Amino acid sequence: MSSAAKNEEHISISRLENDRQAVMACEDNLEFMRRQKSDSIKLIVTSPPYNIGKKYERRSKLETYVQQQAQVIAECVRLLHPNGSLCWQVGNHVDKGEVFPLDMVLYHVFRDHGLKLRNRIIWHFDHGLHCTKRLSGRHETVLWFTKSDEYTFNLDPIRVPQKYPKKKHYKGPKAGQLSSNPLGKNPGDVWVIPNVKHNHVEKTPHPCQFPIELIERLILSLTNEGDRVLDPYLGVGTAVIAAVKHGRLGLGCDVSEEYIQIAWERLHAFRAGTLRMRPMDRPIYEPR
Ligand SMILES: C[S@@+](CC[C@H](N)C(=O)[O-])C[C@H]1O[C@@H](n2cnc3c(N)ncnc32)[C@H](O)[C@@H]1O
Repeated sequence: MSSAAKNEEHISISRLENDRQAVMACEDNLEFMRRQKSDSIKLIVTSPPYNIGKKYERRSKLETYVQQQAQVIAECVRLLHPNGSLCWQVGNHVDKGEVFPLDMVLYHVFRDHGLKLRNRIIWHFDHGLHCTKRLSGRHETVLWFTKSDEYTFNLDPIRVPQKYPKKKHYKGPKAGQLSSNPLGKNPGDVWVIPNVKHNHVEKTPHPCQFPIELIERLILSLTNEGDRVLDPYLGVGTAVIAAVKHGRLGLGCDVSEEYIQIAWERLHAFRAGTLRMRPMDRPIYEPR
């Protein structure tokens, strides 16, 4: 092994020893991912910059953005376990009022790698900018791809309550028996989960962090305990916190030192039992 390779191995091992459940680095994602082993990550879940001029991104032409995304996606595909899943959470790129849904723009990049789309999850929330020249955007999507037809999918941990849990078969051989699964129903592909705005208990200085419960659903259904979960655009560490919460190993990186520092602070607070989190089963607040 060359001394450069040894050095790299040392860096990645010492980071792992730093914390056996979490690896969070302030680093460009291509550099971070190039040190990870092929086929080693069960779930890659992320929300890349949308190229709309947020404080952490430089706005570029859409074609340039897609080329940059294609490089990151190629590296993600290399790292993805053969039974693993890739979840790309995106909204719209907007240019002079014209809307470009990023899932449509990027779909072919994933497809060209042979990934298979299993669901296009609609994430619906109630808060955001109020538009005056078009309808206000109140959803984004999660494209869930798998690397093969043999993929981990655990439905039971993410079942949600039935509307009529006591409903029974009223005729036939099963008459009188419960007609629905007592563990709850499949949550479907429209997820109503509050986004993290100012009054959300998880709010940090990051302008668009994931709600922890969104990532918990993906981790519980698409990985098993002990699996590795990666977020290459980690922000303030939500995906790693959700991974550690459920006994997975969380890895991620972000170019912002401020965000990585907040990520570690959040993880320490989680372990100390002081991190405020919105639980997965809390109903949505409905104003009267
Ligand atoms: C939409 S935010 C992700 C927020 C994250 N989901 C969370 O819960 O906090 C995108 C993040 O990508 C980071 N970023 C942008 N370019 C990057 C790169 N080349 N490598 C790593 N991180 C990058 C930004 O600093 C920003 O925090």
